[in-house]
Order: sequence, then structure tokens, then C-alpha cells
Amino acid sequence: MHAIPDQPFDAAHGVTVLVTGGAGFIGTSFVHMLAELRPQWNIVNFDALTYAGNLENLEGLRGNARHQFVKGDICVDEDVERAFAACSKFGGKVCVVHFAAESHVDRSIISGRPFVLTNVLGTQTLLDHARKLGVMRFVHVSTDEVYGTLGATGAFSEETPLAPNSPYSSSKAGSDLLVRAAVHTHGFPALITRCSNNYGPYQFPEKFLPLMIANIGEGKSIPVYGDGLQIRDWLYVRDHCEAILAVLERGHVGEVYNIGGNNEMTNIALVKRVLKELSKPESLITYVKDRPGHDRRYAIDATKIRRELGWSPRYTFDQALPETIRWYHANSAWLQRVRSGAYRDYYQRQYGS
Ligand code: NAD
Ligand code: DAU
Repeated sequence: MHAIPDQPFDAAHGVTVLVTGGAGFIGTSFVHMLAELRPQWNIVNFDALTYAGNLENLEGLRGNARHQFVKGDICVDEDVERAFAACSKFGGKVCVVHFAAESHVDRSIISGRPFVLTNVLGTQTLLDHARKLGVMRFVHVSTDEVYGTLGATGAFSEETPLAPNSPYSSSKAGSDLLVRAAVHTHGFPALITRCSNNYGPYQFPEKFLPLMIANIGEGKSIPVYGDGLQIRDWLYVRDHCEAILAVLERGHVGEVYNIGGNNEMTNIALVKRVLKELSKPESLITYVKDRPGHDRRYAIDATKIRRELGWSPRYTFDQALPETIRWYHANSAWLQRVRSGAYRDYYQRQYGS
């Protein structure tokens, strides 16, 4: 982004982290990790509890006096003020780790509006309040999708121009640019991370991996978009969360850090791998109409975060995939509850059965 005078991370007088979207997939993993690795820090978990946010994910933090949940919308000034007031009550230096977003590409194709509201307006609202309060650091969690799509070779670096293709990725690119502007115009202490496809526990089963696991559990087929030869780079969510913590504590203000799993795979190879893991037949695969504007290939060059912050993924796909599948099986009641209600309506609309 922009080199501004570095402001070192200072934990000497206590740290309170405002985590937005901390009841969603990655946010849940992040708050659990913080409580484990930085037990002396306070966490204000600020989430609107949309269809993708689930308080049940935070059960393990019940009784933890350093974790406070605040329900509210990042687009609403009064809600953001309440969240920052909760941070001030805890005291110490306040940091923000901003996950809250509308995150599903297919939903953004149905309607882009909620994406613009939360991802663009919500991010600007947070930036305004965070600047007024004078936070120590603001980590904006973004995505490799802002770079667009790749051909058969090459990888996205932090210098790759932004060329988003879906309403989701365009709204995320918009939020990245607003963060960049806050750094450039106001010397605001923000950092941006851009990572590849996460997998792991607590992921909402509209996303491909938990959707597959859930469908297989119900004896349903697996809908593969188009020819299934699109490529994604799969990153275990715990690795992603550890990378974000490294960026928060040791990253240089004003910089962008790519985060990847070194784990590129075609969608069809992923499906076959999951079916094999579960000893299920490939006849469960059904090719369906392609996603409009479907990005063909993502790949991340994560040299910068490895070189500057010493981060690289700790989990291999061979370890973390079976672990993830076991989690969904052990938490079938969670999956069942999450798939009820509004999700059923969405599934009907997207896949027609
Ligand atoms: P998610 O959809 O599972 O969770 C999003 C959370 O944000 C939910 O808890 C939801 O209730 C909350 N939220 C939504 N709108 C809100 C609003 N207006 N105010 C307050 N809270 C609101 O998403 P995720 O997969 O955990 O992704 C988290 C972040 O990481 C997003 O910014 C996403 O763009 C980014 N990201 C995700 C991936 C991935 O593979 N999942 C990869 C790269 C980047
Ligand atoms: O790359 C990072 C991005 O990864 C994040 O920014 C997004 O928030 C996150 O949702 C994810 O986006 P994708 O569109 O890549 O993830 P999804 O799980 O929706 O799809 C993964 C691939 O699988 C993609 O190529 C589309 C395909 N797919 C998906 C679904 C839901 C299918 O073939 N069938 C499906 O039913």
C-alpha cells in the first residue's frame, strides 16, 4: 500500500482486540485462537449475526471474562460506537481485526446490494470510528479474489493489479481501496491481508467443502460447477488465523500481505479426494451449470509474509482435510441446525432441489 512511519505494536499496557465478524467461520477460529494464545488480551466480538453468524460457535468462550460479545451492524454508527465503548471499558491499546463481510460469491450474483452495504459502507463506517478513537492497528482481512483470475501459470503477488470479477470481490476490492485511502490520507495504521480459500471447522455449508460433506451425509449428489477444472489454493483456517496474528503483531503498517496454502487443486480433484476419504462412489458427482463469471484459477505468492514475518502454513492438506471431515461428523447437530431455516430457501434457489 504505502510506506508510513512504522508504529510498533505495543502490548505493554494491555491489548483489547475488536474482532468484527467473530461469530462467522474464520472469525470464530480467530477468537478461539486469541483466547488460547493471548489469554491476557481482551476480545470484543462484534457481529450482526446474519445467516452466516452463529453464537453457538462461541460456546467454548462462555464464562471467559476477557471475551465480550456485542451484537451490532458495522454499517450503523451507534452500533459501532457501542462496540468501541466496550473496548474502552476493557482498556489497553485497542486494535481492530476486521472479518465482518458478506462472503459468498454465489449470493453476490443473486444480489450485490448487501455486499456493497456491508463490505464497502460497513468498512468505511468502521474506519471512521477507529480513526476517531485512535486505534493502535487495524487489520483488514481481504481476499485473493480482488486480483481477479489467473491463466495456467503464475501467482498473485501483492503488486498484482486489482481486477475483481464478481460483485463479492468488487465490494472487497472497494473496501481494500478505502483502507488504502485511510492510510494514505490520514496516516491511519492499517494493514491488509489477502488470502486464498479457507477450510476447517465452523464453515457455513454454502461453501463448497462443507456443502460436499453435508450432501454426502444426506446421500445427496455433489454439484460441480462447469467442467470442475477451476483451481483454488486451499488453506487451513488455523494457519490463516496464525498469519493474521503475525500481521497484527509484527506486520508493517501500510503494507499488504498475501496468505496462501501452497495447495492448488482443481475442484474435481478436491471432490474426488473427499469422496475417497469417505469411501463414497464418484457417481455422486453431478456437473451443473457453471457459476457466471467463474474465476478459473487462483494462486498466491506468499513470499513476502514468509520472508518478513516468518509465517508459512503449518498444516498439510493430508493432515487437515481428514481432521476437518471428522469435525463435521462429530458436530452433525451443528451442521443440521445451520442447514435449516433460511439456508434451505437459498439452497432451493441455487440448486433447485
Ligand atoms: P462468514 O460469512 O462465515 O462470516 C461473516 C461474519 O460477518 C458473520 O458472522 C456475519 O454475521 C458477520 N457480518 C456480516 N455482515 C455484518 C455486518 N453488517 N455487521 C456485522 N457483522 C456482520 O465469512 P468468513 O468466511 O468467515 O470470512 C471472513 C472474512 O474473510 C471476510 O471478510 C472474507 O471476505 C474474508 N475471506 C474469507 C475467505 C474464505 O475462504 N472463507 C478467504 C479469503 C478472505
Ligand atoms: O479465494 C478466497 C475466497 O474463497 C473468499 O474470498 C470467499 O469468501 C470464499 O467464499 C471463497 O470463494 P470461492 O468462490 O472460491 O469459494 P466456494 O466455496 O464458493 O467455491 C469454491 C470452488 O468450488 C469455486 O470454484 C466454485 C466451486 N463450487 C462451489 C459450490 C458452492 C462448485 O463447483 N459447486 C458448488 O456447489
